[in-house]
Amino acid sequence: MIQDLGIMEKIVSLCKRRGFVFPSSEIYGGFAGFWNYGHYGTILKENIKRVWKQRFIFDRDDMFITDTSIISNPKVLESSGHVTNFGNELFKVQVGTGEEVATSHLRAETAQGIFVDFKNVIDAHHPKLPFGVGQIGKVFRNEISPRDFIFRTREFEQMEVEYFVKEEEWEKHFENWREILNNFAKEIGIGKVHELEVPEEDRAHYSKRTIDFQFDYPFGRGELWGLAYRTDFDLKNHNLDYLDEEAGVRSVPHVVEPSLGVDRTVLAVLLSAYTEDELGGEKRVYLKLNKNIAPIRAAVFPLLKNKPELVSKARAVYKMLKKDIANIEFDDNGNIGKRYRRQDEIGTPYCITIDFDTLEDDTVTLRDRDTGEQKRIKVADLKEAVV
Ligand code: GAP
Repeated sequence: MIQDLGIMEKIVSLCKRRGFVFPSSEIYGGFAGFWNYGHYGTILKENIKRVWKQRFIFDRDDMFITDTSIISNPKVLESSGHVTNFGNELFKVQVGTGEEVATSHLRAETAQGIFVDFKNVIDAHHPKLPFGVGQIGKVFRNEISPRDFIFRTREFEQMEVEYFVKEEEWEKHFENWREILNNFAKEIGIGKVHELEVPEEDRAHYSKRTIDFQFDYPFGRGELWGLAYRTDFDLKNHNLDYLDEEAGVRSVPHVVEPSLGVDRTVLAVLLSAYTEDELGGEKRVYLKLNKNIAPIRAAVFPLLKNKPELVSKARAVYKMLKKDIANIEFDDNGNIGKRYRRQDEIGTPYCITIDFDTLEDDTVTLRDRDTGEQKRIKVADLKEAVV
């Protein structure tokens, strides 16, 4: 494995310069372990979460989605074993004022909110096993040494599924989620992921089997996502069980959990996409982001800024596309070459230029980010070409 720390510095710098990720509280010197997402970073993150929701929840008919509170009754994290096993890593919070003060903690995984709502989900939806509940949300860990940009932070987001199964079927479902994780990596353009069978001594307190999905970061191979068999550990701790209404039998379901950090996913996506090459004799930097997650799908340019007829035609094309595709950008700043480079750098797959021929024959130039190739295409065919 070739380690190239230079790439990391380049990514951090690109992210700041182009509005993907800023250090939190930067004007006060920053704050270790905290980062802010800018405009393009937020859209990229939203796009990744959208694909996750589609594949892990909405494409299926055995999944529910939820959004549970970050702070819970202190008993939740005591029963889950977090207070004993995570100790210092939990952020303490005081809830209430005066004599009513209670001490609780910010959650360190979204999972517990799902477990403690188990009965509510069953009463509301009457699902049959196997079924799952997924959630995306912020979690907090007071990491001793936050490091490597958004790889290890103190505030981050998780996309988690708790999948409830009959004990004897856990292996089958584990294998199924394993495949789903590999497919998801491909769909969002993460280069290669490596699977590591985590030995018992390194597993979390609740897990009987864990596979770490690892990625080759510039600072070395490290965890990207986890897939764990949590057994019946959590439901048992919270005294929850399941009634099979047909058989009239009570049991405690077992749990398979694919857990994905959003921020690490963003980092792996950016590292996989970062490309330096030469185009038309000039060096360039571009993000080879998959079309489905690129923050901007296409940018529309008038060839010249000072020709009102070109500008108004470009505005019309921009409006037409934006009606159906939200992430379209308009840019008339600087020469065309500079605009191409700016869009390449944020990973925009297509650039559309309106020139004098457009006014005659209603065709535009469509430029492909990866090859730099340009072709003439009818305005009427544009939408299909860029979706
Ligand atoms: N519910 C299971 C769980 O929380 P975990 O392995 O501790 O398992 C899951 O965390 C994922 O969350 C990791 O695979 C990683 O993507 C992300 N993650 C964990 N700690 C992180 C941190 N300090 N900064 C950023 N992401 C983190």
